Amino acid sequence: MSEVLERSQVLDRSLVLDAVRVTEIAAIAAWKLAGRGDEKAADQAAVDAMRTALNGLDIDGEIVIGEGERDEAPMLYIGEKVGKRTGKMKIDIALDPLEGTTLTAKAMANALAVMAWAPKGTLLNAPDTYMDKIACGPGFPKGVIDLDRSPADNVKAIAKAKGVEASEVTVCVLDRPRHAEIIASLRAVGARIHLITDGDVAGVINTADPTTGVDMYVGQGGAPEGVLACAALKCVGGQFQGRLVFRNADERARAARVGISDLDKKYDLHEMVRADAIFAATGVTKGALLDGVRFEAGFVHTHTLVMNSATRTVREVRMKRAV
Ligand code: FBP
Repeated sequence: MSEVLERSQVLDRSLVLDAVRVTEIAAIAAWKLAGRGDEKAADQAAVDAMRTALNGLDIDGEIVIGEGERDEAPMLYIGEKVGKRTGKMKIDIALDPLEGTTLTAKAMANALAVMAWAPKGTLLNAPDTYMDKIACGPGFPKGVIDLDRSPADNVKAIAKAKGVEASEVTVCVLDRPRHAEIIASLRAVGARIHLITDGDVAGVINTADPTTGVDMYVGQGGAPEGVLACAALKCVGGQFQGRLVFRNADERARAARVGISDLDKKYDLHEMVRADAIFAATGVTKGALLDGVRFEAGFVHTHTLVMNSATRTVREVRMKRAV
């Protein structure tokens, strides 16, 4: 994608470290409330910290994926402008200051502070609805997965491409009653199912990390989380398809408000993130992808994954700061 963009449409690579600072600060704030049983307080702490950090940066940002619509979220709402906004390049921002509020409240694994940046107008303005999603990591032929095929057929296609039996394919699925049919379809071909209780941004990213053993992600989760996961896959390769799910008129109205008219559209990765992106995630609680925040002997430690699709760089950043 970078070849076809004007130079000015590619984010400055120096923004990578700024992005890290933002997710680090949000993760530390959330971690202080880990295991306290209060999802709202943990989320609010992460939101406050992330917003303060963003407003201290020399960027001209607009939240396109955030905490909700303006009337329901006082901070980091969709459309909020952030940064010092001193004539710098305009940036679309997708964020989830705490991806895994329940995980954090219960001090369970895999909670993240997550953010993606891309040039203005290039991230899908996804409404706060569900999305049917399917994803796999890099190295497979284009079209190996398709949302319109059964989960079983997608497993067979992945198995064929890998040259293994379907029973050797591992699929990550959110553990929800609504996924009973998906799980039955996967079981029918003997696939191994990696159930997660929350956190499908990490679930999708795991498909691109061979150390997790996850080959494919399938199921229904938040549409905003879908955009964040696509920004990550854009940096490391992989395939993704998503289709918005509307349960009522209010959700259809949400789509209309963000300019979506084709309600049945099947989006692919590059339609959800239409230019090169920077993606950063800091672990709140320890998980497969990242270590969690740790306070030890007068220091706070964080672990962040930061990627830039324009430069194809993936970095793991470990921060240690005296407290
Ligand atoms: P929160 O951090 O907002 O609680 O979201 C966690 C999450 O598991 C997402 O990763 C996922 O997309 C969504 O919730 C699934 O929604 P639901 O819990 O309604 O099934």
